[in-house]
Amino acid sequence: MATVMKNTGDAAAAASETGHPVLVATDVSSGYGFGRVLHGVSFHVSASEIVALIGRNGVGKTTLLRTIMALNRLDGGEISLFGLPLPKATYAVSGTGIAYVPQGRDIFSDFTVRENLLMGAHSSKKKEIPAILERVLSYFPALSSHLNRCGGVLSGGQQQQLAIGRALMTTPRLLLLDEPTEGIQPNIVSQIAEILDRIREEMKISIIIVEQNLKFAMRHADRFLCMQKGRIVVRGNIDELTDDIIGKYLKV
Ligand SMILES: Nc1ncnc2c1ncn2[C@@H]1O[C@H](COP(=O)(O)OP(=O)(O)OP(=O)(O)O)[C@@H](O)[C@H]1O
Ligand SMILES: [Mg+2]
Repeated sequence: MATVMKNTGDAAAAASETGHPVLVATDVSSGYGFGRVLHGVSFHVSASEIVALIGRNGVGKTTLLRTIMALNRLDGGEISLFGLPLPKATYAVSGTGIAYVPQGRDIFSDFTVRENLLMGAHSSKKKEIPAILERVLSYFPALSSHLNRCGGVLSGGQQQQLAIGRALMTTPRLLLLDEPTEGIQPNIVSQIAEILDRIREEMKISIIIVEQNLKFAMRHADRFLCMQKGRIVVRGNIDELTDDIIGKYLKV
């Protein structure tokens, strides 16, 4: 059975001593029902790194994030965090220090901003929650002024910030973001970009970001993984994402 890491701080410290990357996926396959979507996907994510996962609609980007979170079954291969295999249950995966913000604005509309954020906090860190909340709010001034309003009345951009804020309440080491800029006003997109740069720097969080907005990915990611039909077909540093690759694998 997979080992569940109880304390990500310890795991992170151990990983930096042993030089393990944050996440390693090896030959991962996954799918739905009898259908196979991911075929032999292998990649790694290093500490404090932003990796853009790109590709046309339906290539398997969301499926890959869901497979990391154990929301999809792992049909083959292995995924490890700080050198230890990930557990097979979603709650246990989030306990290891991975937070996931799904595609669409994943918030509780009838709960206040404060309640939404507190729902993200691990109850095992009760004493630390006020400090974590204060820190998360320091990244999202727009949320601070709406703490007692229901999530459902916020603008789309604020709801996306709330979804990211709730994920940060878990104090993750790895954040998975599925199209966080989709349908969001340009000024909020740049706020989100600034927050990602800051949390990577200040909280030492690694980020996998699924992004259709290539300008955004090219400005903020360190590396890219480009998928086609359930496989990673090109990868490289973000400055190696050429017009040729964009034309071949990304333009519709
Ligand atoms: N719940 C499901 N049941 C069956 N097939 C699914 C399910 N969800 C996704 N698929 C299929 O898996 C494949 C990959 O879908 P996925 O959502 O991972 O792609 P994506 O790259 O995230 O696409 P998009 O850019 O549109 O979000 C597609 O062929 C899709 O139809
Ligand atoms: Mg998707």
